[in-house]
Amino acid sequence: MPIHASVLELIGRTPIVKARRLDTGPCELYFKLESQNPGGSIKDRIGLSMIEAAEKAGKIKPGDTLVEGTAGNTGIGLALVAQQKGYKLILVVPDKMSREKIFNLKAMGAQVVLTRSDVAKGHPDYYQDMAERIARETPGAYFINQFGNPDNPAAHETGTGPEILEQMAEVGGVDAVVFGCGSSGTMTGLSRCFAAKSPHTELILADPVGSILEEYINRGTISEKSASWMVEGIGEDFLPPISDFTRVKKAYAISDKESFLTARELLEKEGILGGSSTGTLLAAALRYCREQTTPKKVLTLVPDTGNKYISKMYNDYWMLDNGFLEREPSGDLRDLITRPYSKRDTIVVAPTDLLITAWQRMKLYDVSQLPVMEGDNIVGIVDESDVLLHVYGDESRFRDPVATAMVSKLDKLDVTSPIEALLPVFDRGHVAIVMDGEKFVGLITRIDLLNYLRRRVQ
Ligand SMILES: Cc1ncc(COP(=O)(O)O)c(C=O)c1O
Repeated sequence: MPIHASVLELIGRTPIVKARRLDTGPCELYFKLESQNPGGSIKDRIGLSMIEAAEKAGKIKPGDTLVEGTAGNTGIGLALVAQQKGYKLILVVPDKMSREKIFNLKAMGAQVVLTRSDVAKGHPDYYQDMAERIARETPGAYFINQFGNPDNPAAHETGTGPEILEQMAEVGGVDAVVFGCGSSGTMTGLSRCFAAKSPHTELILADPVGSILEEYINRGTISEKSASWMVEGIGEDFLPPISDFTRVKKAYAISDKESFLTARELLEKEGILGGSSTGTLLAAALRYCREQTTPKKVLTLVPDTGNKYISKMYNDYWMLDNGFLEREPSGDLRDLITRPYSKRDTIVVAPTDLLITAWQRMKLYDVSQLPVMEGDNIVGIVDESDVLLHVYGDESRFRDPVATAMVSKLDKLDVTSPIEALLPVFDRGHVAIVMDGEKFVGLITRIDLLNYLRRRVQ
């Protein structure tokens, strides 16, 4: 294996893996692992192509400031290239993006400007409009504009597409490719490449429910309204200027829930850790495969790595809180408890544990209080202010046992109590300790009640 002079040489030439355990009907399904790019996504390719093309055209030189509006991955691709080539980079990012992506961008040296996710194109706070404005108002800055930049699809027309054809030639070619569409660079580039080199390959779009693209492909109409979705990086509320949908044959609309569950299935069955959009693409690819009556070779992409989504769709509690995983309903307060004690899911301490242990546990699990358990009996509760008041003025008391700082007069509620009974407990500033007779069932906090009410309107 060669030794590379820079991480930029690792962009592209990503591997393809065949599905072994998923039910693909009469078809064979292949995954191109764009997650293996050094920045973890397909967008490294366009980071490189858009910056190098602007350099070649004499529009930018090292030391200049680049500006872009991005849902995250393009930012990471651009940050990688900007950092290696010596550019400053300002990124405008919608606030629905995962914290991991934002931390990643900042750690690479980019300046991140957060903006609202709940406004559409044309609104001054819309991330692309804001990026364009910042570029205009910053002297000497260059707006990358992935949505209108022809070097975005060019990266896929001359890179991703030919790679797919060369790799799939080994198994006799590719009959269909399933992709998602954000800026539409991937789709437009692949479409041009296949039109010239493999015209029989069908182009299939995977689109989140709420995006306008599925309706546009399947019925030719453009909806005025789009709704929001949680899958990151794909789906649109307008047709991007660089888009060319003419050869896209069919589209599937996939819900957030199906996307997340399918991405989890991919990890479980094939050992591939993809991002949220991977779930959308795979769900559409599986529907397409199962609908076929003759065997076909189908390829889909793993556009980014799932590392950035571990605390979201790969986290059972997050999935439960958002109603994407369900537990059998019990019809009582148990339905509001995400971390039941009986499943050993509640984070607890013992009265003999040290306060420093309690504090570390609260931080690790991002909770503000812990039930204090002696065997299976709840004997107290300890929260952040109990620890604070105990140690303030004498920090050596961090080594005192939890029993010395916990509250033992407990606000208990029977599991059969009505939901309204929670409100006075919260009003007193407490969490509800739910009991089934003498048995501790779990805790309910304000956020648990909010999540429960939110799930009911879904
Ligand atoms: C996370 C993610 N980002 C970006 C893209 C590609 O979008 P674009 O249309 O911008 O090339 C995809 C496509 O599947 C994706 O899943």
